[in-house]
Amino acid sequence: MAQLWGGRFTKETDQLVYQFNASISFDKRFYAQDIRGSIAHVMMLARQGILTDTEKEKIIEGLEGILSDVDNGRLEITEQYEDIHSFVEATLIDRIGEPGKKLHTGRSRNDQVALDMKLYTRDEVHMLNQLVKELLQAILVIMEEHVDTYMPGFTHLQKAQPVTLAHHMGAYFEMFCRDHERLKDIYGRMDTCPLGSGALAGTTYPLDRDYTASLLGFKGPTRNSMDGVSDRDYLLELLSALSILMMHLSRFSEEVIIWNSNEYQFVEIDDAYSTGSSIMPQKKNPDIAELVRGKTGRVYGALQGLLVAMKGIPLAYNKDMQEDKEVAFDAIDTAKGCLGLFTGMLRTMGFKKERMEESAKLGFTNATDAADYLVNHGVAFRDAHGIVGQLVLLCIEKDMTLSELPLEEYQKISPVFEEDIYQAVSMETCVNKRVTKGAPGRAAMEAEIAECRKYLGEY
Ligand code: ARG
Repeated sequence: MAQLWGGRFTKETDQLVYQFNASISFDKRFYAQDIRGSIAHVMMLARQGILTDTEKEKIIEGLEGILSDVDNGRLEITEQYEDIHSFVEATLIDRIGEPGKKLHTGRSRNDQVALDMKLYTRDEVHMLNQLVKELLQAILVIMEEHVDTYMPGFTHLQKAQPVTLAHHMGAYFEMFCRDHERLKDIYGRMDTCPLGSGALAGTTYPLDRDYTASLLGFKGPTRNSMDGVSDRDYLLELLSALSILMMHLSRFSEEVIIWNSNEYQFVEIDDAYSTGSSIMPQKKNPDIAELVRGKTGRVYGALQGLLVAMKGIPLAYNKDMQEDKEVAFDAIDTAKGCLGLFTGMLRTMGFKKERMEESAKLGFTNATDAADYLVNHGVAFRDAHGIVGQLVLLCIEKDMTLSELPLEEYQKISPVFEEDIYQAVSMETCVNKRVTKGAPGRAAMEAEIAECRKYLGEY
């Protein structure tokens, strides 16, 4: 047991209490951020005349040595320390002696941990956004290749109207684009430095908080020291953004699972991204998509867990807040893992164009267009709807599509139909007539793709 605060105690901490209280098993992952924060703090202390330049140099050299030794595996972060802050400080004192004892001047672990977690999260948000961008790029490639790949669009998982694969993928592009924007927003809002808030009430030393904030790349210091040590909103925002992102990945996964099923066969997941069965030799399962769908629950759980943990905490720091770490780390790791794997699966997935088109032709996805044909010939839409309903019933009886039904059958139900009805209900017409902004028709889709490309900075 090595702790920073034995002075006023007359007894050793109970072993179980020590273990229950300790956070080193999980906060060791931000040792680099802890050291980065300490270096900035020490530079500021020296600049303000609180430490001498020699002390500053000794401490920084010591901290850099610890950083590179941990990086290279020469120094192990062992669980004999209560937390990462204690480990770094104790190791520094061991290594450089007296000056090391001055590191914690004008600082509390409360503002220190608030800083470390922010620095860590900030780096992770950056990486998450990079992964989202790679996913967007993979989606855009499919959009560009499949402007003319017709497929059924669904509502209620029933065939509705024909769309294209490009259009369907474009919907996911929009979702992940919003995720990308959300992550950028969070980054902007969390960009304030809590260091210098002290335990809760600032410090009596003449700290230059603007300077430390700028050294650490923040746009400025936090405004209120009580809030500075006890704000975890940015984590809740991140977990909320990750929950929405995972919801999108989960919906996409669900579609991949359906499309990859024996009945649909719209796609073929690459062998490298599929798994087999230990008993059924014929099986090729979409486990990755299923796992992404399943792991979504963990990320939702992290959000719920932290919201509940935070809800009754009075100002300022309370130990409950230590509970932010494991859930946030798990959610971040999960989202990163899922994003990377999903993108890989998507990039290698085969799309079965003919099969999709075939499916679009069945199921009367062009019935709305047949009704529109009548409307264009002067029939009121409600009447047209009824007429085409009768035609559909007739086709079901005869086991035919609207494109196969002979003209005299059309004309028996409505004399308005002429030979050009076949042109009007062809897949090509159904899709390419839909050219209002955001629709699947080629002209609209090309404009959409150009905007997506611009969004990704690829002109
Ligand atoms: N491990 C603690 C946490 O994660 C660090 C802050 C400890 N501060 C304190 N006053 N006990 O929140």
